Amino acid sequence: MKLIVKKDYDELSRYVANEIAECIRSNPRTVLCLPTGNTPVGVYRELTRMYKEGDVSFAQCVVFNLDEYYPIDPDDPNSYRSFMKHNLFDHVDLPPESANIPNGQAADPEAECERYEAEIRESGGIDLALLGIGRNGHIGFNEPGRELCLRTHVVTLTQSTLEANHGPFGSIEAMPKRALTMGIGSIMSAKRIIVIASGPSKRQAVEAMLSGKVTTDVPASLLQLHRDVTVVLDELVGVSQCDG
Ligand code: F6R
Repeated sequence: MKLIVKKDYDELSRYVANEIAECIRSNPRTVLCLPTGNTPVGVYRELTRMYKEGDVSFAQCVVFNLDEYYPIDPDDPNSYRSFMKHNLFDHVDLPPESANIPNGQAADPEAECERYEAEIRESGGIDLALLGIGRNGHIGFNEPGRELCLRTHVVTLTQSTLEANHGPFGSIEAMPKRALTMGIGSIMSAKRIIVIASGPSKRQAVEAMLSGKVTTDVPASLLQLHRDVTVVLDELVGVSQCDG
């Protein structure tokens, strides 16, 4: 794993947006995997700025988002579909049919997961996956546990994730308790992976991800087995060394 530490969140965001734009410039048909959450907001802001200044175009790209709550109406303001529209999709030239997110309203969630996985395969596979990391070490919604699923699947969110994510819903009771998420195998099949983390609340998870040990208790630690992962942190995370 390659570790890069930036002075602050803005520098991290600019650096990662540049890496993504560079990748799209060298292959306009880049297939991207993108996360939601607080951490990528700055990257999306920078990509939007670059698009508006004519520095990058998403016209031929395909995006697969990592995950979506279940059940949730895609038009619900707290859905990940709404998040992506608000933070990126509505501001750039990505064709709507190229913006893929698991359907949080699917009548048969397992069938939806199979459909999503098949779409990823048919696209030719992910060229570049951008990932955040949960405080409990999750990536996507692959939560710590005895086993991890390889492919897109339905997951029950852990208490720690409910606590970290309930804010916009007002309470834990009001938020969906399940999600549809790409699996560890879907993520690891990406040709290249960039993981971003900002702030001291991520220190423990980042240390475990870079520790040189692999465990399903820290799903992000499996990324150490991938041959092209760059971890980009800001100084506030407080980690400057990588053993993995
Ligand atoms: C979201 C996702 C999650 C987040 C993680 C970090 O699509 O896949 O794994 O990346 O929970 O979230 P933030 O950035 O809000 O700390």
